[in-house]
Amino acid sequence: MIKHFLSLSSYSSQDIQALISRANHFFLHQNKPDQIRHLLEHKIVANVFYEPSTRTQFSFEIAAKKLGADVINFLPEHSSVKKGETVYDTLKTLESLGASAIVLRHADDHVFDHLNDRFNLPLINAGAGKFEHPSQGLLDLLTLQQEFGKLEGLKIAVCGDIKHSRVAGSLMVAAEKFGMKIILCGPESLAPASTKSYVQKAEFDEILPEVDAVMMLRIQLERHEYLELNPASYHTQFGLDLKRVQRMKKDAIILHPGPFNRGIEIAEEVVEHRQSRIFKQMANGVFARMAILESATNESRL
Ligand code: CP
Repeated sequence: MIKHFLSLSSYSSQDIQALISRANHFFLHQNKPDQIRHLLEHKIVANVFYEPSTRTQFSFEIAAKKLGADVINFLPEHSSVKKGETVYDTLKTLESLGASAIVLRHADDHVFDHLNDRFNLPLINAGAGKFEHPSQGLLDLLTLQQEFGKLEGLKIAVCGDIKHSRVAGSLMVAAEKFGMKIILCGPESLAPASTKSYVQKAEFDEILPEVDAVMMLRIQLERHEYLELNPASYHTQFGLDLKRVQRMKKDAIILHPGPFNRGIEIAEEVVEHRQSRIFKQMANGVFARMAILESATNESRL
């Protein structure tokens, strides 16, 4: 059976923990490249990004190369997409050409719905509309586990455009599996309705002293038909500034999937604050994606 990596909901907590442990192994052995360079030798990873990306695309590329794979980066605007080729035909073409795995990002929440049973190579979700971003979820879990030594019982505030966030989508799936509590903050109009026992809503300022981590999210202007955003006023009401950081526990951490808008959802001086793990998350993206690529292309794992 082909092991597509499309949603954290398809995995048990044990499966996800195995991926986190493997990613942490790659983190711990990052100075021993000779031990891992053969793992994806002779494989070809195709990065197919219909939406822009910096972190996800290039961390998948670096992850694949560290494991010895070749990488091709498909650019829709310089491809036969411009002649009307569909997503399915594009991916089927890459499969025919000999790709070993396809890493796909697309604006459509449902892009994988009719694809997964039509391919003999693993498809990896690199962000599907507002649905899920499971590799980001895995790197977030890796970062939290490295910081706190556990996931169970962690309380995480998520503040910003949660309604349009596939990052929040994957985090909430993981929260249920690992017994974490998610507290949704920010504008009510950007929060999903939630009836889940492990998700609650709270005022940002009130909850800050109680949480282990604060995940800030940018406003996804590209997914809004109409939104009047006053950056200064948003920053005052919901931005993570130094005053708010001072209300957090001293060992609580600051997360953001990126890209971040300094001065809107997060203050300039908070991005690289002592409690920020934003760049650690990015670094962990490589290790998490190494574990995902290895697992997806190696049938003996998971
Ligand atoms: N976090 C994230 O998905 O970033 P990119 O859009 O740059 O890949």
